[in-house]
Amino acid sequence: MDPIIKVNDSTYYLGVNDRQTMYFENLWPIPHGMAYNSYLIKDEKNVLLDTVDICYADRFLRQLRTALGEEKLDYVIINHMEPDHAGSIGTLIAHYPEVTFVVNRQSLKMLEGYFGKVDNVLVVSEKDTLPIGSRELRFITAPMVHWPEVMFTYDPKEEVLFSADAFGSYGTVDGGIFDYQRRDIEHQMAECERYYANIVGMYGPFVVKALKKVEGLPIKQICSVHGSIWQERIPEVLKLYERMATYGSEPGLVVVYATMYGHLTEMADAIARAAGMAGVAPVKVYNLGTQDVSYVIGDIFRYSGVIIGSPTYNNHLYPKIEELLSKLQMRKVSPRYFGHFGTGTWNPNVASKLTTFGEEMKWISVGDPVTMQMQMQDDKEAEGIRLGEAMAKAILSGEPKAE
Ligand code: FEO
Repeated sequence: MDPIIKVNDSTYYLGVNDRQTMYFENLWPIPHGMAYNSYLIKDEKNVLLDTVDICYADRFLRQLRTALGEEKLDYVIINHMEPDHAGSIGTLIAHYPEVTFVVNRQSLKMLEGYFGKVDNVLVVSEKDTLPIGSRELRFITAPMVHWPEVMFTYDPKEEVLFSADAFGSYGTVDGGIFDYQRRDIEHQMAECERYYANIVGMYGPFVVKALKKVEGLPIKQICSVHGSIWQERIPEVLKLYERMATYGSEPGLVVVYATMYGHLTEMADAIARAAGMAGVAPVKVYNLGTQDVSYVIGDIFRYSGVIIGSPTYNNHLYPKIEELLSKLQMRKVSPRYFGHFGTGTWNPNVASKLTTFGEEMKWISVGDPVTMQMQMQDDKEAEGIRLGEAMAKAILSGEPKAE
């Protein structure tokens, strides 16, 4: 069997799996690893699309050599210069010094910034095409999806969109490379959502522009630089991106809190159960002390209701809650229905801070904030239930609209 995997009649998959890194960008947990995908189109000219993380350069080059056989590598198209894709360029130049890099004006600066002066460069814009024999590749600039130099490459013969980070997901590509070969495709969709929310989430308006540019293109396959190749699920993943890029939401509630001694767990459960009993599903409850913020951000991108709870800590919000708020502010996830709760022993004072946060986010305030002191009391539990019910009413009334 040919050790090189084919994407279609003329395209080869040269991706590698990383099951050693714990945190993508040294920040976001990847318990199911990460794939860095590169592709080779073989025609009269042979064209490589992106490379892989430097840690996997040897493995990648071996695959490239096998796929090329005795043939020449003519072009390398740089769709994205972030080092998880461009990291192996220096090694590639050492092995293929004659190759021509196809870049745009932005990526050229980065290419030379990272690797010094490069001899053979072809600078392209959206107006250009690259004839490679039986087809002319097209370029679609997609700035800020996720860096300013990002572009997509379109192969009109095979009807493939090479989409850089867009439509990518966390997780290795295990076994087959296509979405239809996975039995855990829902997991990949969820990891695609978490990847978007964490990595690309603050650039929604740019993603909208990029989606507009590819609208109407016949696309049989989407080859991202991360995760499985989309083939069967293209309509779903496009729809997912449209929702996330416009900060749209589905009915559902995220209750997220932190706690030092467990008292807010009682309140979070009271609120969540009240919302669930009133008809909201799903209700996702997260304790940031034990669950990573990346999953919470993913769910806040998805669901229409958010209730946040924090202890008072040195007269401030609890640090993990502050971290969540700052990440949400950066990503401008709005609008959402919003409620909050808090606690403290001698001076519980987080309510005003959470109210201010909600106002700054232009979130729609729902119900009355609940402030408990020390431990749960019946009257406070009743307030929590009322907050959960009020949130349920808001969520079930329809998607929040910007005011
Ligand atoms: Fe996968 Fe923006 O790099």
